[in-house]
Amino acid sequence: MIVKLLIYDTEKSIRTNEFAAEVQAGLAATRRYLMPKYFYNDTGSKLFEEICKQPEYYLTRTETSILMKYKRDILGICGDQDISIIELGSGSSLKTKILLNEFVSNNKKIFYFPIDVSETMLNDSIDKLSTEFKNLRVIGVCSEYASGIKEVNVFMLNHSDVPESKLLVFLGSSIGNLDPVQVQKFLTALKEQVNYGDAILIGFDLQKETTILENAYNDKAGMTAQFNLNLLARINRELQAEFDLSFFMHEAFYNVKQQRIEMYLVSTCDQSVYIRGLGKHFSFKKGDRIHTENSYKFSLEGINKLAIASGLRVIKNYTDSRNFYCLSLLSRVPDTSETGK
Ligand code: TRP
Repeated sequence: MIVKLLIYDTEKSIRTNEFAAEVQAGLAATRRYLMPKYFYNDTGSKLFEEICKQPEYYLTRTETSILMKYKRDILGICGDQDISIIELGSGSSLKTKILLNEFVSNNKKIFYFPIDVSETMLNDSIDKLSTEFKNLRVIGVCSEYASGIKEVNVFMLNHSDVPESKLLVFLGSSIGNLDPVQVQKFLTALKEQVNYGDAILIGFDLQKETTILENAYNDKAGMTAQFNLNLLARINRELQAEFDLSFFMHEAFYNVKQQRIEMYLVSTCDQSVYIRGLGKHFSFKKGDRIHTENSYKFSLEGINKLAIASGLRVIKNYTDSRNFYCLSLLSRVPDTSETGK
């Protein structure tokens, strides 16, 4: 019987130099950008855990409190059959543990598939979980979201003992890091991964006062700044670049019109940076910005609309007393072509 296993994205090795190509494209663009998925190397993932503990970063605490309060309800809706829990961007799995605890203590057979790009993080958490929960089968998937889900599907096809019933979990308001076009595609693709009767649990950060939002992304301890700058450190290490981190500054503000936090790295002087791995210099004027992330903020109405547009429906929206955050339990609706049959 499998208790613990770590599998990898089998196509990753074919896509060599992906990082180099994407850094090159981003830095050569008119509006410069770096893709946020590259935040989460081992150092970045550890820094993110620190962000989650900062007093200003209410997201993690609020999401945790909602999970604690409604875990029974969620379990009740998922039914009492054996279940496969698949989590995108599992990180330390700390929040999901709350659910796992609830499910496992109900004597069900649970397979947990945490998907994460950070191998160290994943290894640590699958080690801890498999010792802590005797009845839990943990299959870690070291991969990005889409290819990770594919790997899980392959695994399920090859192992008949894996429960067919699924709960897909996507926490931390990472969904807010996708833009409105991407998010609908993403949800539609997620829908394809579940059957009618399965559930999808997604964390959405809600719209609120600008100062509260801006403080969350500008913590006093400077963890978010370090996290942002770590992108440049990663380029230095993996592409032999010469970014001087002291010449770039973290910037995050709320764009009220677009309802999103925008995050940048701002050059604090005129400078030219050589990236040996790309064989190129990139010059920056003082004040030039590299866009590193958006974090969209939602309304309950917006979540509903988004669900419907993606072929899903909201079973329940769980919120906290301040209406800061929402955990939405969604399910697939029958395709319109199938209704009325
Ligand atoms: N999903 C998290 C969020 O949008 C990610 C995040 C938090 C983040 N702080 C950050 C990403 C700082 C980049 C930089 O809240």
